[in-house]
Amino acid sequence: MSSKKDNFSTRLLDWHSQQHRPMPWKGERNPYLIWLSEIILQQTRVEQGLPYYERFKAAYPKVEDLAAAPEDEVLKLWEGLGYYSRARNLHFTAKYIARELEGEFPTTYDNILKLKGVGAYTAAAIASFAYDLPYAVLDGNVYRILARYFGIETASDSTAGKKEFAALAQALLDVSQAAKYNQAIMDFGALQCTPKSPTCTACPFQEDCTAFQTKSIEKYPVKTKKLKKRTRYFNYLLLNTTEQIIIEKRQQKDIWKGLYQFPLIETSALATVAQLQLDEVWQQYVGNSNYQLIRQSKPFKQTLSHQYIIATFWEIQLSQLPSVQDNTLLLARQDLYNYAFPKVIDWYLKDNSLYLNLI
Ligand code: ADE
Repeated sequence: MSSKKDNFSTRLLDWHSQQHRPMPWKGERNPYLIWLSEIILQQTRVEQGLPYYERFKAAYPKVEDLAAAPEDEVLKLWEGLGYYSRARNLHFTAKYIARELEGEFPTTYDNILKLKGVGAYTAAAIASFAYDLPYAVLDGNVYRILARYFGIETASDSTAGKKEFAALAQALLDVSQAAKYNQAIMDFGALQCTPKSPTCTACPFQEDCTAFQTKSIEKYPVKTKKLKKRTRYFNYLLLNTTEQIIIEKRQQKDIWKGLYQFPLIETSALATVAQLQLDEVWQQYVGNSNYQLIRQSKPFKQTLSHQYIIATFWEIQLSQLPSVQDNTLLLARQDLYNYAFPKVIDWYLKDNSLYLNLI
């Protein structure tokens, strides 16, 4: 029987040959640069990732250059991209390749997969793009395309679903041109078979796409779990004199590890000063000294993949700043921009840069 599977790859590659989406890593064979682009593009749109790729490539043309960079510098270059564990793993893996593998990028799928920060999707992308090895990529885009076209009802986030989709994705791959095929399916997901309002009217798969034919595009891919996001309330204390301000480096196993911030008090709802005064962080920095609460900001909201962060900034003027401990820095205000902050802090600083004499 001529099944829907048979001509899938031909149609996909035909579609791709009509597309002109130039990207600096297309046709790239250097595994280091492919790896760099793929890590940047994880959970990131191409338009957003592109300038970061260019900056990283310029700053660190070789894996040894990245390995030799201080972590703060790498995080600063990553600032604004989010999911900072990607940057820390990128740096860790660069050091590993430079030092343990003498700068030679692994050449097999299994060894690529062992690298920290590299999952099955990224390993398949690198193995196929750099070495034409026959591994099909499978990510949210591919789940969506396959679920719609084949009308797959198995939940894509279930164990059975993951297995079924992985086997199907691999069976569809044109093994004689794995790099081309993988690039084509990524582009198809980004340009044509998009999550919202896909371009079905001009789609080469329209005639036998189950989702289109049954008018159920929105239904696929079927998922079991609906992610419920947690809301967290962050109160940042801008402890400053007219010249200086305190920042600290986030150490804990939590979001934004390695980034900088103002001393933080987390509360279970929007806080009052009376509540903050009781907190040990307040006690540690302000204690019984004379202080003036200059301003309380409006709440700034940042949406992350699993959390909402509601941040309020409390500007507190002290006549003298307390002595600081490890991982805490006393800075001239203008030097704030040399450090990498979470987006929510950058937003606040940009909104208030004139007022705060930051420029
Ligand atoms: N997303 C992840 N990798 C990609 C690539 N190589 N091209 C386009 N989008 C991508």
